Amino acid sequence: MPTSNRLGTVITVLNLKGGVGKTHTVWLLASACEERSQRMLAIDADTQGNLSNSFVRSQDTTAGIEALLDPADEPEPRNLILPTAYPSVDIIPSTPGLARFDLADQGEWEQADLHLSFVEPVAAVRELYDLVVFDCPPRLSLVSFAALCASDFVIVPLEAADWGAQGVMQVTAAVDYVRTRFNKRLELLGYLVSRFKRARAYQQNYLRQLREHFGESTFDTVVPDLALFEKSVTDAILLTRHSPASAEADVARRLLDEVAARAERLRRGRNAGGGPRIRHPRGTALERARGERSLA
Ligand SMILES: Nc1ncnc2c1ncn2[C@@H]1O[C@H](COP(=O)(O)OP(=O)(O)O)[C@@H](O)[C@H]1O
Ligand SMILES: [Mg+2]
Repeated sequence: MPTSNRLGTVITVLNLKGGVGKTHTVWLLASACEERSQRMLAIDADTQGNLSNSFVRSQDTTAGIEALLDPADEPEPRNLILPTAYPSVDIIPSTPGLARFDLADQGEWEQADLHLSFVEPVAAVRELYDLVVFDCPPRLSLVSFAALCASDFVIVPLEAADWGAQGVMQVTAAVDYVRTRFNKRLELLGYLVSRFKRARAYQQNYLRQLREHFGESTFDTVVPDLALFEKSVTDAILLTRHSPASAEADVARRLLDEVAARAERLRRGRNAGGGPRIRHPRGTALERARGERSLA
């Protein structure tokens, strides 16, 4: 593994709903990173292991992220990293053993400080990568909290119709909680509209409402619902290799560009002494009612 001194931006991808494109967001980021020879570490924090299945064969996986949560184990984080078929993309896979450590009882894990399990391992490897991305399960269990505690930013993929859903607010509240208690670096990078069905008028309507509601916290990039996205996952070939000239590959490139630009903007704001710019759904609506400027 090469040594380097890269920026190592750490991002958690999280939503409490399944099937909204969390894993696909990581896939798109890996696609664009690979094409640009930017180094990315994907960390599969979901017991379902969808991301792992796309990148490595299960028989090649002996240990995975669960080793970092096991109080009886003290693995060298670099030993958990597996290469993929793509030289610039590595993965820490999830194994079936993760389920045993993905606790649901917050009191239990906080008492044992298990939510801080990823902090040092991530700090030990991040400078080898431009981007480190956690793919989370659709719940706020231990792994999701542990990922938030070790991250700089959070992306919340969601379907346009779900912008007001309880689960989205719970994620925002969890981000706030982690920032206040455990990781003051943590900021919302943005809400990413995923699986968007352009042809449906009601979806356009939802998108408009979502942008009004979340303002500049909404990514400009929208990921449409298109068969080619799914096909590249099924074929297990990163989109920029699978169909480099496609509009879908361009979405992956635009997403990575916007992720980098948003991260840079938030970092600059932080260095300039501005506080975190996470937007509360209700706060944003209130601000808009007061006529504040929105970039959406
Ligand atoms: N934009 C999209 N267009 C078409 N299919 C998609 C898109 N995003 C995700 N999918 C497919 O939908 C399914 C669920 O997406 P996934 O990213 O695994 O959701 P999550 O990780 O949130 O559960 C997968 O089969 C995936 O390939
Ligand atoms: Mg997933």
